[in-house]
Amino acid sequence: MDLHKALIKAALKIPRREAELLAAHALGKGRAWVIAHGEYSLSATEAEAIALTVEARALGSPIAYLVGEREFYGRPFKVDQRVLIPRPETELLVEAALARMPVVEASVLDLGTGSGAIALTLALERPAIHVTAVDASAAALDCASDNAAALGAENIAFMHGQWYAPVAGWTFDLIVSNPPYVAGEDAHLKQGDLRFEPRQALTDGSGDGLDSIRAIVAGAPAHLAQGGWLLLEHGYDQAPACAALLAEAGFTECVALNDLAGIPRVAGGRKL
Ligand SMILES: C[S@@+](CC[C@H](N)C(=O)[O-])C[C@H]1O[C@@H](n2cnc3c(N)ncnc32)[C@H](O)[C@@H]1O
Repeated sequence: MDLHKALIKAALKIPRREAELLAAHALGKGRAWVIAHGEYSLSATEAEAIALTVEARALGSPIAYLVGEREFYGRPFKVDQRVLIPRPETELLVEAALARMPVVEASVLDLGTGSGAIALTLALERPAIHVTAVDASAAALDCASDNAAALGAENIAFMHGQWYAPVAGWTFDLIVSNPPYVAGEDAHLKQGDLRFEPRQALTDGSGDGLDSIRAIVAGAPAHLAQGGWLLLEHGYDQAPACAALLAEAGFTECVALNDLAGIPRVAGGRKL
């Protein structure tokens, strides 16, 4: 079968663009090559590899897991079922962190690092800082370490454990986190890509989805240097609750930032 026919067949099950991406991955080529080489004659192995990923996509598997990669802040991150697929809106948290980071030799803590998207981006954008990246999932940390090696980040350490437990007694100039914040019973957990992502990355099971944010805000003052910032990503309707938690914990200069869709997405404050 030629590539053109395989794509027509695939497009009966999934969008054409996705079929092109999956074919490109199976053939080890770019999407542009796939579009330009419809006449290419597929070997039986290649045709089967394309058909298998198309079938998996038709059953809902996220494209990022099928191709094993997602771009974040202009860099490719290896992703699979051990980690959350980095979202474009999380780039807002990175921008907010870069804007508030001391210019030299800052120490940064990323809580719930997953693929390492936030921690590694900060480490690579600012080679003079040192980043500590924590996750409760050892499997996620393996993925993040692979990404660190592939992207050439050396100013980062990965630690396994619950939130601040691995860094007890340490202080940082900046704490960032994109924690699980989906409410435990939210219907979205049973829809789209979320069905395939690690449950622990999406929700802590709390009724309002805020237990992780509560724990991170409550522990932050003891782990921040004077003048240090805490910046958190949160759900579309959680900005007021985050602002209240930050004020309660004594944070000043509190910020609430909207993502590109105009949705409140990042909350933060500074330790006096
Ligand atoms: C929403 S994902 C964020 C992943 C990544 N930082 C990103 O933005 O793409 C949340 C991460 O928090 C981790 N996590 C959940 N509960 C945790 C806990 N109690 N302590 C540390 N990490 C936790 C999950 O394993 C997951 O990797």
